[in-house]
Amino acid sequence: MMKQIYLITFIFVIFIYSFHSQWVPSDFDTIIDECQRVSEYLITGTDYLNYSDMKACYDSIPFNKTKAVQTIETVKELLKGFYAFLDQAKEEPKPGYTFTPIDLITELDLLLNKDYSYEYEFVVFDDTIDPNTIDCQVTHIDDKPAIDVITEFARNNISNSRDLNVRFNTALASLAFGNMDFLVYGQLFSLRQKLPTDPTISYTLNCNDKIFNITREWIVPVYGSKEFYPIFTKYKSSYINETSVGNASLIFDAIFSRFYTLQDFGVVLFSTEDTTGLNTDEVIRFLTDMIVGFKLLADKGITKIVLDFSNNSGGDVIVADYIIKVLFPNINIFPEDIKVTDASTAFIEEISNANVVGDLFNYRSYTSTIKNNPFDSINEFIGNNRYTRGGAQVKFTTKAFRNDSLDFQILPVPPKFPWTQENMVILTNGACFSSCANIVQRLAEVSVPTVSVGGFPNTRFSFASCSGGTVKDSNIISTYLNLYQNLSNLASRSILSQDLFLTFTCAEVYSLNNPDEVMEFSFRQADYQLYYNEQSARDPSSLWLQAEQYIKKR
Ligand SMILES: *[C@@H]1O[C@H](CO)[C@@H](O)[C@H](O)[C@H]1NC(C)=O
Ligand SMILES: *[C@@H]1O[C@H](CO)[C@@H](O)[C@H](O)[C@H]1NC(C)=O
Ligand SMILES: *[C@@H]1O[C@H](CO)[C@@H](O)[C@H](O)[C@H]1NC(C)=O
Ligand SMILES: *[C@@H]1O[C@H](CO)[C@@H](O)[C@H](O)[C@H]1NC(C)=O
Ligand SMILES: *[C@@H]1O[C@H](CO)[C@@H](O)[C@H](O)[C@H]1NC(C)=O
Ligand SMILES: *[C@@H]1O[C@H](CO)[C@@H](O)[C@H](O)[C@H]1NC(C)=O
Ligand SMILES: *[C@@H]1O[C@H](CO)[C@@H](O)[C@H](O)[C@H]1NC(C)=O
Ligand SMILES: *[C@@H]1O[C@H](CO)[C@@H](O)[C@H](O)[C@H]1NC(C)=O
Ligand SMILES: *[C@@H]1O[C@H](CO)[C@@H](O)[C@H](O)[C@H]1NC(C)=O
Repeated sequence: MMKQIYLITFIFVIFIYSFHSQWVPSDFDTIIDECQRVSEYLITGTDYLNYSDMKACYDSIPFNKTKAVQTIETVKELLKGFYAFLDQAKEEPKPGYTFTPIDLITELDLLLNKDYSYEYEFVVFDDTIDPNTIDCQVTHIDDKPAIDVITEFARNNISNSRDLNVRFNTALASLAFGNMDFLVYGQLFSLRQKLPTDPTISYTLNCNDKIFNITREWIVPVYGSKEFYPIFTKYKSSYINETSVGNASLIFDAIFSRFYTLQDFGVVLFSTEDTTGLNTDEVIRFLTDMIVGFKLLADKGITKIVLDFSNNSGGDVIVADYIIKVLFPNINIFPEDIKVTDASTAFIEEISNANVVGDLFNYRSYTSTIKNNPFDSINEFIGNNRYTRGGAQVKFTTKAFRNDSLDFQILPVPPKFPWTQENMVILTNGACFSSCANIVQRLAEVSVPTVSVGGFPNTRFSFASCSGGTVKDSNIISTYLNLYQNLSNLASRSILSQDLFLTFTCAEVYSLNNPDEVMEFSFRQADYQLYYNEQSARDPSSLWLQAEQYIKKR
């Protein structure tokens, strides 16, 4: 019953080529010598490709205008048909946010006037842990002040949050908890998806007043190779092991969440809501275990808890809804709607007629916010709701809550826990995306205090990014187009070439405290700000101690 419904991002057009060692595109094979060389390396099972070899291959691929036009037209069709934020993205950012308003359709047309380049690779620089560089300050990168270089990169080249502070945090490496361990998260500055213009990058380091340069080559790790994986696992913190983080003791590991005690309070780490690759039984087990973890804290008489949602990339909206209900059984989740277009209307009709249980496009998946009951018909769900967004008149469906009752039926009914907004605090580094954002934004609206860590000095910034609704992708849309005869007139315009993949947010969520405010565009700064230092970057427990200070009743 658990559906794969994802909430990922606000942005945008992601072209992904899956890249495996078997990857040998046929036209590369036959036409292009430079790429022939790359494919031969791949066949040998190499761990990574050289910058120069990769660049030569990219540069040799001729621009195919026909394919570019077809792709762009299909992308436009999908975004116009389904992307919830297409219009509002044209509006100036709310104070606190830093992004360029964008008319995606116009930008896509402009793309056709430029040279098209294939950019589909992870690139990292070839680094090893060099004991001589630990705790050194990076003063310059390629001879420019390091802070400026990272800030500009975060401003122009990272698109995961509308808040520049959050983008800055994710440009740098941080720790996220993974399977029984902590992994390195973020580091988008050094883990590129686009081939850099120069083959190397140089850092000027200040180590106890000794100043020197190091230069690193960019390399292209091959997915699945041993070189690829250690990027995320290379770093180990001496403050963290399987049973403790600093002075905090692990009392239970529930995989999606982890439970610690520190002094007289509890800490719950929520690392993900992502159910990709899990079967229904596993999802049920992880959520059942989460209840066990909370029970253990309650049984120990813990009266205060720090909820750490740092480095949480989101996932399944149902998992998010469930977490909200575990903590606050009597509050609603955020209401949502979807854009009404010819394409989405056709989908709503077909998928409602087919009664695909729980689907975004099935009107039976919702509870009307107006009458607090299910909708009686497709027409009632679609309604006639017009809004002005980005200067345009647009239509959206009637605002509604997702009705999760069927999914929740297979999950444990949580007991009544002793905690309220008076004895919880939320901690994040702003890198709490999509479904994670929906959880913490909702809790903040019932006055759970929020603390964000990192960012720029004296700038209180977002504790969450990209509160949206369900994300669909080009493959799912294609599947529906092939499945339902009545959608066949849309198929010719909306099926993206098999090797391309586009995701887009289809539903937007609204604040409950301020019902006309679309959460995606609403700047919500944390109540308090903390900073990383050499200690807290390696030992999250020192942030937990600081966050605990902000719990209301002591
Ligand atoms: C990388 O380049 C070096 C020399 O520049 C060469 O010896 C090596 O074979 C290349 N390796 C790959 C995987 O391209
Ligand atoms: C360009 O792309 C089109 C559409 O994908 C394809 O039919 C055509 O063969 C391509 N042309 C070249 C020269 O590769
Ligand atoms: C970052 O974005 C800017 C503006 O789009 C672009 O000119 C630059 O090449 C990008 N830099 C990197 C490192 O990708
Ligand atoms: C999240 O990342 C920060 C650094 O940005 C790190 O210090 C912290 O330990 C991480 N927290 C969790 C819970 O993963
Ligand atoms: C580091 O390299 C740059 C040139 O890339 C040079 O200007 C600078 O003097 C070097 N610094 C040291 C300490 O070697
Ligand atoms: C983890 O670290 C704590 C505190 O440093 C120590 O007491 C404990 O024995 C360690 N546990 C393991 C499994 O290494
Ligand atoms: C952990 O506890 C010890 C002993 O109370 C204390 O000296 C140390 O500073 C604590 N560590 C942190 C990170 O708070
Ligand atoms: C949720 O859906 C179930 C049927 O799946 C229905 O019985 C119930 O009334 C709905 N709840 C609300 C509040 O709309
Ligand atoms: C397809 O559309 C026709 C005409 O609108 C309608 O009668 C039929 O029920 C639809 N088929 C399905 C499977 O919804």
